[in-house]
Amino acid sequence: MKTELKSGIYWVGYVDWNVRDFHSFNTAHGATYNSYLVQDEKVALIDTVKEPYAPQLLRNIQELTPLEKIDYVVCNHAEPDHGGAMAAVLKNLPNATLLCNAKCRNVLAGYFDISHWKIQIVKSGDQISLGKRTLAFLETPMVHWPDSMFTYVPEEKLLFSMDAFGQHIATSVRFDDEWSLPDILVEAKAYYANIVTPYGKQVQKTMEAGSKLAIDMIAPSHGLIWRKNIPAILDAYANWSANQTESKIVILYDSMWESTTRLADEVLSGILSVSQTINVQLLHARRNTLTRIATEMLDAAAVAFGSATLNSQALPAMAAALTYIKGLKFAKKPGFAFGSSGWGIGGAEQISKWFDEIQWEQVGKYVSCRWRPNDESKAACFEAGRLLAQRVLNR
Ligand code: FEO
Repeated sequence: MKTELKSGIYWVGYVDWNVRDFHSFNTAHGATYNSYLVQDEKVALIDTVKEPYAPQLLRNIQELTPLEKIDYVVCNHAEPDHGGAMAAVLKNLPNATLLCNAKCRNVLAGYFDISHWKIQIVKSGDQISLGKRTLAFLETPMVHWPDSMFTYVPEEKLLFSMDAFGQHIATSVRFDDEWSLPDILVEAKAYYANIVTPYGKQVQKTMEAGSKLAIDMIAPSHGLIWRKNIPAILDAYANWSANQTESKIVILYDSMWESTTRLADEVLSGILSVSQTINVQLLHARRNTLTRIATEMLDAAAVAFGSATLNSQALPAMAAALTYIKGLKFAKKPGFAFGSSGWGIGGAEQISKWFDEIQWEQVGKYVSCRWRPNDESKAACFEAGRLLAQRVLNR
């Protein structure tokens, strides 16, 4: 399956329709690993695919050109969803030189025996002429690995953007104007929230550098190729990387015998008593994926986290969510901790300590009730919801 992006430039990647787990990213709609072939006087392959799909990639290339005609393979990013097939691909391309930056080479050397590979190291500002077209390189460190790099074809105003602007979505079409834009942006947001969030500053630097390029097509390594809605995805990345928030509060909790659920409901009631227009997401930690939770967190202006107590700690799903959220380094948001316990305390206390550890302000003292919530603990959660809503409206 091949699609022509520009004259002589083709998509030759792999659609992974039924992948549902991508190192814990819940890929509910599948994924693609995008590779591209640039045919000119010289021929370049831009990125590869996951290792098991190397045969399909090679077949796609062979439908366009003999494998010995490939002069260059560009590795914009060595993570195995793009670099995994590199050894198998290079083995079948007898005349190809690998173009990558020094950090990328080091990562590839960690995965493969590269001693027999022909490698040419490139850096920002370097250019390789293919004939009528040029490959120009722009290193984009930590968007989202140290080796990350863009490859730009100035004559075509075409940017191969690696993971940036990508989405985990398997489709039978390749371009953004062939699919629902809201659906693409939902998946782009999930991708950003779960993969890119810790690197907002680096994203902004990259976008600043990229703003000097004339671009009419962005071809990422995952999902649909942007040719119509480029301003929409650039605006979205500008907002997400600047930690822009919506009028939105995430209540995330887990409960054992529904006491913490009742407290979560009180927080919700407190929020709604102030405003019915705030977007509240009431998420049960065991009934939502970490992927959904992180996506909702991205533009939330405040949070309330609650847990029942198991073995003097928060419930496992809640603890996992806290670990995941901490790692993603979301911008600080005002928060509230609550929870219930029976004969041994710990759930609410652990969450409150977590807020302290990552230095997010707590709106009021945490609420920890024994057995069933009483009027006092319910009123405290209602009041915390009210305070969170006021903070969101006044931000
Ligand atoms: Fe799609 Fe960072 O790999």
